[in-house]
Amino acid sequence: MNKFISVDDVTDIDALVAKAVSYKKDPFRNSALGKHKRIGCLFLNPSMRTRLSTQIAAQNLGLDVIVFNVGSEGWALEFEDEAIMSGSTVEHVKDAAPIMGKYFDILAIRTFPSLKNREDDYSELFINQFVRYAGIPVVSLESATLHPLQSLTDVLTISENMRTAGSGKRPKIVLSWAPHVKPLPQCVANSFSQWINAWGRAEFVITHPEDYELSPKFTGDAAIIHDQEAALEGADFVYVKNWSTYNDYGKIYCNDPDWMLTREKLALTNHAKVMHCLPVRRNVELSDEVLDSADSLVTEEAANRVWAAQAVLAEILNG
Ligand code: CP
Repeated sequence: MNKFISVDDVTDIDALVAKAVSYKKDPFRNSALGKHKRIGCLFLNPSMRTRLSTQIAAQNLGLDVIVFNVGSEGWALEFEDEAIMSGSTVEHVKDAAPIMGKYFDILAIRTFPSLKNREDDYSELFINQFVRYAGIPVVSLESATLHPLQSLTDVLTISENMRTAGSGKRPKIVLSWAPHVKPLPQCVANSFSQWINAWGRAEFVITHPEDYELSPKFTGDAAIIHDQEAALEGADFVYVKNWSTYNDYGKIYCNDPDWMLTREKLALTNHAKVMHCLPVRRNVELSDEVLDSADSLVTEEAANRVWAAQAVLAEILNG
């Protein structure tokens, strides 16, 4: 593996999940793999889980880790080609990225979308410019449209909690839109859809209010149902996430609290396990009673971030 930006960089999802499981069982079995090598983790936007789990994963492999909060502590970067830099940006990525390519062996980057211009966000300009100019492997810590380390974690967590394992029956996974107080990116929902489709081991349903369609590039053949209760029937996993509108880009049309997942709605499912990437707005996206119940996998899911990151970094170190 020479970069990790989307599921397209993975040749065998099950093998990568198995690798993550092997690190979960024995975190230090490859503790010399990254010896005398260094990863730079650049954050243009905030993070807790991604930042900490990636650092732990890198350290488990013996990598030296430097975290740089570029967004708050670095020079303001310019990403547009041929920009006339007479505004607020100070340094072009064309100048900064090759230097990072000299300092580090792996570059990991978190960027968010603007949610103002869909074409710009969906071109993935920021992370692609780092890939283009750094000259070393680039790992996405979440980009404008995707969050692949989260999605690998989610497939791992589902695999570990599949009651249907060995029965030949595919689990029903429902991605359910949730209300939120501010417009959020589509990254997690796009990426989850992309990975579940590529994995191909589940019946996949997406439920959201009308006008919240995601890009068909990511939803693929998933069944889209606007009646949340109908969608939840018989579900084995419910993945809860808010996203802002994709078509009339970056808007909130609906904040209907009826879309929050509650215990009553969970009763429609097949004793479904509940997932969320976190951070979560309690009693807006998910009720306390669901989050604090034995049905919630959110802490287990966040803990699995370490093993997913470790599997990816090991693949990259192995070339
Ligand atoms: N799920 C996730 O990416 O969490 P952070 O934003 O805290 O990294």
